[in-house]
Amino acid sequence: MSRAVIAEARHPGGNGGVLFSSRIRYGGDYNPEQWSRNIWVEDIKLMAEAGVNLVTVGVFSWSMLEPSEGQFCFEWLRDVLDLLHASKIGVDLATPTASPPPWVSVDYPESLPVDERGVRYRHGSRQHLCVLSPDYRRLAHRIVEQLASEVGDHEAIELFHVHNEYANHVPFCYCPQHEAAFRAWLARRYGSLQEVNEAWGTTFWSQRYSSFEQIIPPQHTPTWVNPGQQLDFRRFSSDAFFNAFQDEVGVLRRTRPDVPVTTNLMGLFEPLDYFEWAPWLDVLSTDNYPNPADPDAPVNSAMHCDLVRSLNKSLPWMVMEQSPGRVNWQMRNVAKRPGEMRAYSYQAIARGARGLLFFQWRASRSGAEKFASGMVGHSGTKSPVWSEIVALGHELGGLDAIGEAVVMADVAICFSWPSWWAMEAPCQPLNELSLRNQLLWVYTPLYRRGVTVDFCRPDEPLGNYRAVLVPSLYLISPAEAANLVGYVFGGGTAVVTFWSGIVDPIDRVYLGTYGGPLRGLFGGEVVDVTPLPDTEQVDLEWCDGTTTKASTWIDLIDEEDGEVLARVSSGPWAGRPAVLRARRGAGCVFYLGTRLDSAGLARVFDAIFDIAPAISPEQASDKPGLVERVVRRDREFDFEFLINHGPRVETVTLLEPDGTELLTRAHVERSFVLAPQGVAIVRRPRS
Ligand code: GAL
Repeated sequence: MSRAVIAEARHPGGNGGVLFSSRIRYGGDYNPEQWSRNIWVEDIKLMAEAGVNLVTVGVFSWSMLEPSEGQFCFEWLRDVLDLLHASKIGVDLATPTASPPPWVSVDYPESLPVDERGVRYRHGSRQHLCVLSPDYRRLAHRIVEQLASEVGDHEAIELFHVHNEYANHVPFCYCPQHEAAFRAWLARRYGSLQEVNEAWGTTFWSQRYSSFEQIIPPQHTPTWVNPGQQLDFRRFSSDAFFNAFQDEVGVLRRTRPDVPVTTNLMGLFEPLDYFEWAPWLDVLSTDNYPNPADPDAPVNSAMHCDLVRSLNKSLPWMVMEQSPGRVNWQMRNVAKRPGEMRAYSYQAIARGARGLLFFQWRASRSGAEKFASGMVGHSGTKSPVWSEIVALGHELGGLDAIGEAVVMADVAICFSWPSWWAMEAPCQPLNELSLRNQLLWVYTPLYRRGVTVDFCRPDEPLGNYRAVLVPSLYLISPAEAANLVGYVFGGGTAVVTFWSGIVDPIDRVYLGTYGGPLRGLFGGEVVDVTPLPDTEQVDLEWCDGTTTKASTWIDLIDEEDGEVLARVSSGPWAGRPAVLRARRGAGCVFYLGTRLDSAGLARVFDAIFDIAPAISPEQASDKPGLVERVVRRDREFDFEFLINHGPRVETVTLLEPDGTELLTRAHVERSFVLAPQGVAIVRRPRS
């Protein structure tokens, strides 16, 4: 992997804005190669009926574009692009490299990835590729070059879509190419074997390496593999996919520098450090599949949208895939109920999305995903989904007004992929501690209050946020810590939770009381920690004498200068501080040494809202959990989005009275009624 290639391919600034200049983009994955030409003609007629203006073409077309090595076949694709263009439907042209044709794996078996036990995968599904295989890379590069030179100048193309869901299905490959590249990566990162040995603490369990050749990826071992080795292998694997991505991007940008580039991300997807990827895109896009059977799906999905928007705050973002109805990859694939697809679509729009695409346009007749719902289902336009698709397409066509209005986020949540990887490596005090769960723990009450959140890397400028939440930021560099400390001393309010500041970037524990370079913020000394048995809760007594519950974990805290807001009041650790508040510089830190229940967390957030008046207590939704509220703002107007995810009619109250509801064009005063799955977008001039 050469970083030089990556640097060359960089496209500063991004040019994704052109894609959305005048309209919300609407459409889906279009796989015409599965159908005959007369169906294409019908498809295009139906797309026009539904207000479709962007379709992704070619995602899995490699075997149709290059049926045997070096024999290319682009006529059908040109025909499809012509038909779409004639009907003014834009194209998001995908590179087909996520599923090599069978001839690739038969003729070049080393293009197939190898699993942790050394077994090679075979073809017959998709993503059967090793991103570091020279054969795969050469063939992938060539099909992308061919695609770009054969059809890249077609006027229908408005966006390039690189690959599909990088690292999905096979996030790690353990083949000899990966092994050799991992060593080279380590040599570059550390400079010497001595440094690798130091970083991984290899004197433990006699793991000391006397030559680079002895180093292997963390594979099938009798028991826990070295966590430093594992963390570095995760970094290396994320880089390997990134390098393959950059290779394709380079080809596309050389051919059509004017066409923006994206790849479909997957929200909180653990294997890839999307914060590293995001600066290299022109448009952020994501695949979001909330599960209709999960009562927490609205909050999970909101968090997904906020995360993707936040990956690069200067780029537009869009939903690249969502399901019109059912998916087919769960055990029980419950369909979205009437109105639910629309509600999730507006959730994304509320959180800044500029486009909504579905997987897929027409439900397949055969193949592994034949029962995944389509915008056009197996029963064609008779499927109830179709009328919802058409209605939404028309509604979105009238919504240009929202345009570039920015999402107003007063609060940031800090996290990083390396910290996630390191914290979820084995042999932790609490191996069930999940970062996703920790993020949701602090995100959910804010969602319920209608407080919109950005996600930030720990080293990102934070000064514009009224509050910054730091849930279990286990791994932290001194520079990241300095950024957080600087934010607080400069007047910010931070909420830092247990298991933050524990290790340095190479996973070595910061010695002394826990917290490392963050410990000066806590207001107490974390002298040790203990998880709680999984069914056990403890009582916390707050300074006003009331109690709430806590679970999961207890930091054993010695008092310092911080004000003790709550103490453990039951069990063996009774008397220990559990929640602290410390004034630092012009700012303030809340330290949570345990997992507060929702009542306890609400107390902390109530106190923060007092300190940071810009987050008005009124933003607390009057129907917590059911009605989602988001504000977007442009130069002249506020757009307040309200979405009822619940099963009942709700009366909702606006943050400020009087506005125009954009979907009905009705004037609304302070309160109005929102049906189940109902959506309102109230525009009012900025006061
Ligand atoms: C996505 C994938 C699509 C399709 C879809 C089905 O993860 O990108 O190709 O498989 O899921 O829900």
